[in-house]
Amino acid sequence: MPEITREIKLDPSVVPPLDDSILTLSETETEFLHSAISADDDELKSKIVEAQKIAYAQHPYPCIRAFHFVNLMMSENPIYPKVLESGKAGTTIFIDLGCCMGSDVRKLVADGYPASNVLGCDLRQEFIDCGHNFYHDSETCKIRFFTSDIFEVPYPFSAESALAFTGISQVTGLLQLREAVTHFYTGALFHLFDEATQYALALRVATLLKRKPGTVVFGRHQGLPEAGMINDHMQRTRYGHSPTSWPLLWKKVFSEVESEEFAENHVVTEAVLTHGFNRKVIGSTEQARMLIQNDQRAKRRAVRDYSSGIVAMVLNFNPWNVSDWYP
Ligand SMILES: C[S@@+](CC[C@H](N)C(=O)[O-])C[C@H]1O[C@@H](n2cnc3c(N)ncnc32)[C@H](O)[C@@H]1O
Repeated sequence: MPEITREIKLDPSVVPPLDDSILTLSETETEFLHSAISADDDELKSKIVEAQKIAYAQHPYPCIRAFHFVNLMMSENPIYPKVLESGKAGTTIFIDLGCCMGSDVRKLVADGYPASNVLGCDLRQEFIDCGHNFYHDSETCKIRFFTSDIFEVPYPFSAESALAFTGISQVTGLLQLREAVTHFYTGALFHLFDEATQYALALRVATLLKRKPGTVVFGRHQGLPEAGMINDHMQRTRYGHSPTSWPLLWKKVFSEVESEEFAENHVVTEAVLTHGFNRKVIGSTEQARMLIQNDQRAKRRAVRDYSSGIVAMVLNFNPWNVSDWYP
């Protein structure tokens, strides 16, 4: 059984101070935030900065410092249009694991995925509350947000240890989602952990997936050209997968959870490493690299001033062809 090592509490001396100048918004992000928060740019900026301060005080993730909570990166994943289209039928379940303030799922719903089929899960209630304060929607938001720790999902996860699923609006924990999720997103989550813990995490993700063609896991995490330890500017122990090791990880996971035949014939995994980031954002001495599936996005990101490396993944139970993902 892979050993699970959780995140450590950070020594304040290694935490870089906040810097407003890092904030950049694309046209799409600005349009979304104008409609969701405020049409006034000054007011919008001050609300973003205020939300950032509150969240960073809870846990100083570099992605919060880099304003990723308003960067809507999920919607830029090449498989996003397919996920959205399939979700519109109203028969799927979507989850964002490690949703933080929940901007990605709010954007998903704004794009037409039915809110009643969308779940946002995070370890920390404070981030979910911060999202409700930022979007001013605690009374009106139809997305089901809940706190749960992915490592509390047992492995193996038998039907007996699952809690009854009584509808998306009733979900209070991941234990209710055994083999239930059609569309599974994780952003900047795997790279928080060492190699064994990432494997343990992937096993748990696999147990929550619906065994059905069209089920998709997608995301973005820091990666390296050769898999190995990430040189972390905050002294965390973190592992970076490579475009080669990432598919092997998932093959091993599905061989274990299902069978070698299943992993071979029913699972497709893709990961591509993209350009590095600007060092200023994370205050690191080394430039981080990103793994992502498509060059177009890499080019866009290279132009913008982004903070950490990303591994993007698409894990797709057949029948879609990989070539379908690249228009
Ligand atoms: C680095 S942030 C990434 C936030 C967002 N997904 C993004 O792409 O920018 C990682 C998020 O995962 C959450 N998280 C960390 N460990 C978790 C766990 N064991 N179970 C569920 N969520 C977890 C954190 O609280 C945090 O909100």
